[in-house]
Amino acid sequence: AAAQNKVTINAGDGKTIINKHIYGHFAEHLGRCIYDGFYVGETNKTIPNKNGVRLDVVDALKKMKIPNLRWPGGCFADTYHWKDGIGPKAKRPSIVNTWWGGVTENNSFGTHDFLNMCELLGTEPYLAGNVGSGTVQDLTEWVQYVNFEKNSPMSNLRQQNGRATPWNVKYWGVGNEAWGCGGNMKPEYYANIYRQYSTFMNPQVGKEKIFRIASGASSDDFNWTETLMKNIPVNMVEGVAMHHYSTFGWDPGVKGSATDFTEAQYFRTMQQALKMDEYIQKHSAIMDKYDPKKRVALVVDEWGSWYEVEPGTNPGFLYQQNTMRDAILAGATLNIFHKHAERVRMANLAQAINVLQAVILTKGSQLILTPTYHVLEMYNVHQDATLLPIDIKSDDYEVGKDKLPAVSASASRDKAGKVHVSLVNLNPNKSQEVTVSLKGLTAKAVTGRILTSAKVQDHNTFESPAKVKPVAFNGTKLNGDELTVTLPAVSVVVLEM
Ligand code: AHR
Repeated sequence: AAAQNKVTINAGDGKTIINKHIYGHFAEHLGRCIYDGFYVGETNKTIPNKNGVRLDVVDALKKMKIPNLRWPGGCFADTYHWKDGIGPKAKRPSIVNTWWGGVTENNSFGTHDFLNMCELLGTEPYLAGNVGSGTVQDLTEWVQYVNFEKNSPMSNLRQQNGRATPWNVKYWGVGNEAWGCGGNMKPEYYANIYRQYSTFMNPQVGKEKIFRIASGASSDDFNWTETLMKNIPVNMVEGVAMHHYSTFGWDPGVKGSATDFTEAQYFRTMQQALKMDEYIQKHSAIMDKYDPKKRVALVVDEWGSWYEVEPGTNPGFLYQQNTMRDAILAGATLNIFHKHAERVRMANLAQAINVLQAVILTKGSQLILTPTYHVLEMYNVHQDATLLPIDIKSDDYEVGKDKLPAVSASASRDKAGKVHVSLVNLNPNKSQEVTVSLKGLTAKAVTGRILTSAKVQDHNTFESPAKVKPVAFNGTKLNGDELTVTLPAVSVVVLEM
């Protein structure tokens, strides 16, 4: 391949930190994410667990360095009454999970279960509060229950339920998708509701101020962000959310299979994924008008691919396989988040286990890591590192009359001084030669890891769990301050120098 691709790393210009929280995950009471995913029950004797939480899951997510976990939804959050999920499990009421399959939710996994699990994972909890069908009192009491140390009805109740000290939860969502499943509200109405709820959540209850996240726009709904920013003073909100899924549409049957897809479908998925860049730019420009000092974070608290469910599985459970297409999507999306690190300071891939673009799939006692898992694990070197601005000139990847850039890249310097460069080849038909110019950087040696496979459809299965996994990469040539990298077709690479 001719050297059409050029990445210039301006190593002297780094000033923005890539917040580790953009590597966050999401666990909803949906399908087999919590039950049969994270949680198999305290009485389970066949799957090793602590208080019912699978230890192989804990192990894998710790290795991946999961920085935060959002719970209990999603749409479920605006149906969830947290008091149903505390106290003796035998006494907890069963409810119907109205959004996801109409199944019975027995509330055996509740606030203590989740927050103790986050401690086990070494991750920060992000609680999504119920605004759509809850009350101001419910949500303010939840904050007090988990965060207040001294004597009060809620902290006393927490202690009666076995937890002496508060968990000090920092991240709080004030409703979810308020424009849809969270209550079908208009933006003006939600902005007012937000102001009311967030006032009584009282930032002074716990050890440190909480971080309140307003329910955000879907993809290109810029009016939603504009209305929120116009009507909510910047000292009342720490984050404004946004959701963007890579999907072919919301009508039944249009999403296509997760594993059996054509090149045209692969291309469309990438088009959808790369729109993230434009959407973030436009939402950020609106936020800049009202918040030029960038005090409020843009929180992309749901992102990822959304296909048809696996044949034979419950359509309400959103269980999909995960291929190299998803790995490429994840690598390119994380590179986009890095680029906007000044404003995008938190994000959550949907969802962690057995739902949508999962990093882990389980079947009985078996567990597999998906290609997406491996990308998040390879990329974790960027967490809390300094973003090094890049200029990129890329070859085109063309399908029919449409084209996309073939190469996506990002670079950062970690606290130990190591520079990492992540590169994605979006063109599944052609290897890419990339010239990386290291401005202001003397590299002595380059090492790397690659995730690659013959086809974009390739994936791990319970029969063949390690078909796709990272290996050492030696496709680089260093010549002074110029590095030549040969990216195979269908690959995601992370270099270290
Ligand atoms: O992640 C699945 C669902 O997608 C979430 O519950 C909802 O917020 C979004 O529509």
